Amino acid sequence: QPMRKLIIGANWKSNGTIQSIRSLVQTVLNPAIIDYKNTEVVIAPMYIHLPIVKDILKSDFHLGAQNCSLTGPGAYTGEVAAEHLKDLGIPWVILGHSERRHIYGESDAVIAEKVKRAGALGLKTIICVGENLDERVAGTTTEVVSRQLDAIKYSLSDWNNVVIAYEPVWAIGTGKTATPEQAQEVHGSIRLWIGSNIGRLVANSTRVIYGGSVTDENCKELLVLDDIDGFLVGGASLKPAFKTILEICD
Ligand code: G3P
Repeated sequence: QPMRKLIIGANWKSNGTIQSIRSLVQTVLNPAIIDYKNTEVVIAPMYIHLPIVKDILKSDFHLGAQNCSLTGPGAYTGEVAAEHLKDLGIPWVILGHSERRHIYGESDAVIAEKVKRAGALGLKTIICVGENLDERVAGTTTEVVSRQLDAIKYSLSDWNNVVIAYEPVWAIGTGKTATPEQAQEVHGSIRLWIGSNIGRLVANSTRVIYGGSVTDENCKELLVLDDIDGFLVGGASLKPAFKTILEICD
């Protein structure tokens, strides 16, 4: 198996208070002792918490935003552009999360444009794909994921800065994790897509991570799979269990 550095993302979503995130950093993240040469950790608090976390988070960890604007800076009320993330020194951004797609109506085309903008500025992107329950039941998972990937195909010139996160929508926040077989099947198909659409070397070097009800209990059995290179953790990343997840993945 090619040496792909593991990557664990913490997607805190729209959660926390100044007090709770400070305490999470001080009691769960900063004390975690893992080999950061082998494992990359990206913490994604909500926008307004980014500077606060940046001040206190130890430098072994990296910071990410959970979204960025479709536009650059300017008269775009309420938006935060990739340029602003760059200005703050935030190297990563999560794009295409299913909550953005489904609750905020972001289409494949919108996500492709965001990916393009972020990539052009040199931000590293975690691009989320995944089917909903109806699509899984209908047997169209691979089709849906390929369509989502097709959309970003021409948005990126540098795949070194890209991580793909497979997050089946039915597994997000539900406690229903994909089985190792289900996850490996889709991760394998994502790597095949990269191989035939971008290139074989890129397919070997791109990290494909899993998200959806990852816990300290189930991460081990997923991590051993050939095509799983880490996780994007939601709920469990707000708890002491995240330290255990990091230590298991080390
Ligand atoms: O981005 C991570 C996320 O969608 C998974 O959430 O709470 O199921 O771990 P959760």
